[in-house]
Amino acid sequence: MKKYTNINDIANLKSLIKEAINLKRNPFQNTELGKNKTLVMVFFNASLRTRLSTEKAARNLGMEVSILNVNDAWNLEFEDGAVMNLTTSEHIKEAAQVISQYANIIAVRAFPGLKDKAKDEAEIILNSFLKYATVPVVNMESATAHPLQALADAITIEEFKTTKKPKVVLSWAPHPKALPQAVANSFVKVMQHMEVDFSITHPEGYELNPEIVKDTPINYNQKEALENADFVYVKNWSSYNKYGQILSEDSNWMITKEKLGQAKFMHCLPIRRNVIAEDAVLDSENSIVIPQANNRTFSAQIILKKILENK
Ligand code: CP
Repeated sequence: MKKYTNINDIANLKSLIKEAINLKRNPFQNTELGKNKTLVMVFFNASLRTRLSTEKAARNLGMEVSILNVNDAWNLEFEDGAVMNLTTSEHIKEAAQVISQYANIIAVRAFPGLKDKAKDEAEIILNSFLKYATVPVVNMESATAHPLQALADAITIEEFKTTKKPKVVLSWAPHPKALPQAVANSFVKVMQHMEVDFSITHPEGYELNPEIVKDTPINYNQKEALENADFVYVKNWSSYNKYGQILSEDSNWMITKEKLGQAKFMHCLPIRRNVIAEDAVLDSENSIVIPQANNRTFSAQIILKKILENK
């Protein structure tokens, strides 16, 4: 593998999931692979899981890890030809090449602004690292995608499924802040490659990018959509069509124990209790959010391993 910026970088999802589950059984089986190699993680935004799990994954492979919070570095410029006489002090052209000299792999987290769709979809930060870095780049959540999360989600469904083709529903839920579509986008993409009966439910106006959704069924009736589900993946996202806007905070879309039924409850975390899902859901045996978060380590580890092996 040369990079991991999108689900499309996975050549064979089924075998990758199998390998990740195997790694989980013996996480220290490849400690020589990363010896004398360094992962540099660059954060433009906050993180708990991604930061700690990716660091753990790298260390499990014998790698060293350096972390750069860009708020503690020079203000970066991304525009070609910019006259840098205002607030930016260093161009990404130099920064990415310099970081590459200290790194064997660079991992980047950079959320969208949610103001300008075209600008967010251009993935300026991630693509600038891809353009100027001289080592492989990993996406730790960009403007439009969170492929490490989606791979962890796929591993989790594979581990917890009790039927060959489980029913998986992605449900929108309310949130007081405008959130990106990245997690939902990557979850949709990964589910399209799995042997699952997959559908999406959300209020009208919350349609995701149609180029990602393709022919995945959408049901605007959440109760109907959740019937007989095996897995309910809950996530808020802001409107894609009325870009970045909150169109509804309708608490009727919050996941309750009654709505969940016998299904397993999934969420990428962090989660706002009693807004996205009620306490009774998160505190129930049906919630698998903690093992789901644990799989972030093995999703990152299998990706770093493939990149280190260059295959
Ligand atoms: N799910 C996830 O990416 O969590 P963090 O934002 O804490 O990294």
